[in-house]
Amino acid sequence: MRDLIEEAKSARLKAHAPYSMFLVGAAMRDEYGRVHGGCNIENASYPQGWCAEPSAISALVMAGGRKITEIAVMGNGATLCTPCGGCRQKIREFAAPDVKIHCCTESGELIQTFTLEELLPYSFGPENLA
Ligand code: THU
Repeated sequence: MRDLIEEAKSARLKAHAPYSMFLVGAAMRDEYGRVHGGCNIENASYPQGWCAEPSAISALVMAGGRKITEIAVMGNGATLCTPCGGCRQKIREFAAPDVKIHCCTESGELIQTFTLEELLPYSFGPENLA
């Protein structure tokens, strides 16, 4: 878990968030044990910005991963920063319901761990299309 949190911390420092000033870092472990980081990237056309989680998912997929096995996320300070609704669905595509999401402070202390199922109950995923 520590490697994941450290990656999220360093990803957060790369955030491009000049509009909200809310820097977010995320890190995701893939099925090979590799860790991929991502940050939020905002845009002068505000709705065009995106969250840290899809940045990390993009890095994971581009590295050849297809499963998320563990996640760490952090925002500013010690505010609990859980993945937003849209991010929960994006995570759902690649993660099983029991995947842990560690929500941390900016300095990397664990605040609370959730499972994906706790954050996104009765979810709709790839199996629902079968
Ligand atoms: N943000 C994330 O990166 N992840 C989340 O799950 C919550 C929100 C970002 C989006 C925006 O750049 C900033 O935080 C403020 O909403």
